Amino acid sequence: MEATTKTTSSTTIELTGSFENDILSGLTASPKRLSSVYFYDEKGSQLFEEICDLDEYYLTRKETEILQRSAHEIIDTLPMNTHLVELGSGSSRKTRILLEAALASFDETRYSPIDVSVEILEQTSNDLSRRYPDLKIEAVADRYEVGLEKLLQNDQSPDCVMWLGSSIGNLTRQEATLFMYKVRQELGPEDSFLLGVDLRKNADILEPAYDDARGVTAAFNLNLLTRINRELGGQFQHEQFQHKAIYNDTEGRIEMYLISLEDQDVWIEGLDRFISFSKDEKILTEYSYKYSQTEIKTLAELSGFRVQKQWFDENHWFSLNFFKPI
Ligand code: AVJ
Repeated sequence: MEATTKTTSSTTIELTGSFENDILSGLTASPKRLSSVYFYDEKGSQLFEEICDLDEYYLTRKETEILQRSAHEIIDTLPMNTHLVELGSGSSRKTRILLEAALASFDETRYSPIDVSVEILEQTSNDLSRRYPDLKIEAVADRYEVGLEKLLQNDQSPDCVMWLGSSIGNLTRQEATLFMYKVRQELGPEDSFLLGVDLRKNADILEPAYDDARGVTAAFNLNLLTRINRELGGQFQHEQFQHKAIYNDTEGRIEMYLISLEDQDVWIEGLDRFISFSKDEKILTEYSYKYSQTEIKTLAELSGFRVQKQWFDENHWFSLNFFKPI
């Protein structure tokens, strides 16, 4: 049987054109900040894949371990032929474990990745339809909220929205609650949400995961400056900045910074200005929030869900959470 691959696309005006504005407002703010959404240009996406293979970056391995052990149980928790909708089509390596379990149990398996990047979607869709000729793929190129609206309206079958990799960690707890609340509005009683969440743990484990010995995460962080140089005619020099990752235990989050190694003024042509840094001044580039069991439960409850089931790796470092609407 021929695999059906359909890709719908709409413009992402919100993203193009706001890079300049976001960089300008972030670098003229005090303290300075840059949004982690801008890590993922071609080089950044490649570096992130490398991060996922690092010894120190346990997140991907632990989530894979959970999926390998529990994929059949997860699929058995869902109604027959549940439409699997994934936020971010990322590396389909983890998703494949779930898809294989679904293909083994369902009469028909429908999979819809949502991603802003058309290139990534095409790559994922082609790869998956080659591997699984029976899989029905309907990819959507759009922002998550818009993509979900398109996919879930007029869809009769039950849907399970999946957000893996602890990507929710990039949102503050308040943003995370609001996002989940909005998704909840799109869901009916038969639908569900499968959420991968990294758990709170000791700084001894967390900090190396975001500051690895080979310096891949440092390169990932510094690549933001390269991107500004390329896309906005910036004159940042890598050697003048240092990567730093610290765990803020009170807030339960990793904070990544780029630290200026000296007093300097950096010209950015596209912004038509110099940005001044004093020695040791920090640019905040990423938050990566970690959750306790209580915080997961609170997130679910505040956004209109209850935690129906959870799966963990052996160390309880990572969690997969099955949320049902209430
Ligand atoms: C893709 C947001 C889950 O926070 O662990 C990895 C990004 N940053 N190393 C994370 C990231 C530095 C990652 N997420």
